[in-house]
Amino acid sequence: MAAVFALFLVALATVFGSSAADPDMLQDICVADYAAGNSLFFFVINSLSIFPVFQYSTAKSVKVNGFVCKDAANATAEDFFSAGLAKPGLTNNTFGSLVTAANVQKIPGLNTLGVSLARIDYAPGGINPPHTHPRATEIVYVLEGVLDVGFITTANKLISKTINKGEVFVFPKGLVHFQNNNGKGPASVIAGFNSQLQGTVNIALTLFAATPEVPDHVLTKTFMVGTKMVDKIKSRLAPKA
Ligand SMILES: *[C@@H]1O[C@H](CO)[C@@H](O)[C@H](O)[C@H]1NC(C)=O
Ligand SMILES: *[C@@H]1O[C@H](CO)[C@@H](O)[C@H](O)[C@H]1NC(C)=O
Repeated sequence: MAAVFALFLVALATVFGSSAADPDMLQDICVADYAAGNSLFFFVINSLSIFPVFQYSTAKSVKVNGFVCKDAANATAEDFFSAGLAKPGLTNNTFGSLVTAANVQKIPGLNTLGVSLARIDYAPGGINPPHTHPRATEIVYVLEGVLDVGFITTANKLISKTINKGEVFVFPKGLVHFQNNNGKGPASVIAGFNSQLQGTVNIALTLFAATPEVPDHVLTKTFMVGTKMVDKIKSRLAPKA
């Protein structure tokens, strides 16, 4: 009987574990205390002794979704507020688009709540280049303009559509997707995520602008082109000073 119950628990854990987004919270709020964790004592163990090491900036150097909660009695409306998406972002950059986040790094009260928003603005011709979000499905609502959007499934099928003001489109978690403003005017969307910090992997930058560089021989074999071509793309995406 105990064995059956244990098996049942394992099965449950597997089902919930594999389908889980951000973990669910066990308290009303956990407002991120950005400052906490910046000075921690770490015990470094070497072969000779155990000694405490003062480690500064731990929270900044190790990025994790969770933050230390500030005292709930000290939470304020400001902890749950952002005006950051009210205005269009500047799109006069290389790709002609800008993502403005309203995630746990901007709204401390989002910590442990498992959701976030962003606003994305696109100049005419602007693109939000192919990328993935490892931790969230994305749902966009078009505020203004017309966008060609799409995602590619793991079966390598492109699912794409032109979407207009007031319309909604969904990009499933982890799949490569993009938005392109082929219209004549500016465009913008509000994007919702089922994670407080969805994470973004930009395919082109990941491969061609990583530090240290992904070796040329990896990229020449992957894309079946010569070194010159690979270096040209690298120099465009990660210009060396
Ligand atoms: C909460 O606010 C009170 C009053 O401002 C302050 O004395 C206390 O240190 C705060 N507690 C924390 C954990 O920040
Ligand atoms: C983009 O436009 C803003 C405001 O007009 C300006 O301050 C900024 O320098 C521009 N950036 C680039 C990269 O041209």
